[in-house]
Amino acid sequence: MLSTSATTAETLERFYQDLRGYSASPLWLVQEEALVAEPKSKALPHLWRWRELQPQALRAGDLIGTADAERRVLMLLNPGLNRMATTNSMFAGLQIVMPGEAARAHRHTPAALRFIIDSQGGSTTVNGDRIPMFPGDLVLTPNWTWHDHANDTADPIIWLDGLDIPLVHLLEAVYYEPYPEDVQPVTQPTDSSLARYGAGSLRPVWETSGAAHSPLLHYPWTQTWAALQRLAPEVDGSPFDGVIMEYANPNTGGPVMPTIACHIQMLRPGESTKAHRHTAGAIYHVVQGRGRSIVNGHPLEWEDKDVFCVPGWNYHEHANASTTDPAVLFSFTEAPVLRALSLLREQPHPQGHQ
Ligand SMILES: [Fe+2]
Ligand SMILES: [Fe+2]
Repeated sequence: MLSTSATTAETLERFYQDLRGYSASPLWLVQEEALVAEPKSKALPHLWRWRELQPQALRAGDLIGTADAERRVLMLLNPGLNRMATTNSMFAGLQIVMPGEAARAHRHTPAALRFIIDSQGGSTTVNGDRIPMFPGDLVLTPNWTWHDHANDTADPIIWLDGLDIPLVHLLEAVYYEPYPEDVQPVTQPTDSSLARYGAGSLRPVWETSGAAHSPLLHYPWTQTWAALQRLAPEVDGSPFDGVIMEYANPNTGGPVMPTIACHIQMLRPGESTKAHRHTAGAIYHVVQGRGRSIVNGHPLEWEDKDVFCVPGWNYHEHANASTTDPAVLFSFTEAPVLRALSLLREQPHPQGHQ
């Protein structure tokens, strides 16, 4: 049976004040904030336009030297979050490396990915493995791996940075260390991880790796594009994402890093998807094409090289605006974290569309 009390307001206020003195507080006053019926992300759906940001990235290249910036990155900050985050737990930025420059070697526990946007070459070295960077390539610099970047071409290189830094900050597990030299030595043949692990389902037998992340650090666009083109005419695909494929850890078939899953998806000419939502948020980069995503009722009209975000538990659906050309989206999410903690939920929109 529920009980009632005739305590006066003054008595209660005195009680609450006393509690504060003991660093204690009544849960019953805030329970509805703590145990919500379902998540309501403070992050907002948002689109960052390449045609607006690319000139700003080039401007940063002119105004800021590598001596002034360990990394020259334009952070893509969510307008609903007053912190260094693009979705609740993930961060995205645009990094620019000018011709002849190198970004110093360092390592940190936040894991990072690079999705190359503009490049005629250039490279990232990860634990002694020098990885070439061409448009559409995905390059991983997992948790605590040494990495530096170099542009030995005549043109600026710009890529999308994706990091789990908001999540690792929340967990108070950020460590950072500069390498003793500006540049780490290259200790392996160029693109060594690709030679060893880039042959799809063929793996070297003698190699053992205890790492939680993918031993393949480079997913070249040539392979990604070939896989999409091969699959797209054969399948219906996902009702929510079209022809979507996950970049896999070749050792496990699972996500590329313990905290981040990466996907590539093709919306075929004229294709539009149904709406769903999931607890994981997502950050998208438009590899090519133009179209529209409706996120929590907000239309985001995207084109080539734009970036946009879908906060967690926001309904979203995508449409290719072209009837002749495919649209291709790269995306990354914290889904592996939620899955590991039994917190990954997904729900289709009851009407199919918003
Ligand atoms: Fe870094
Ligand atoms: Fe989704």
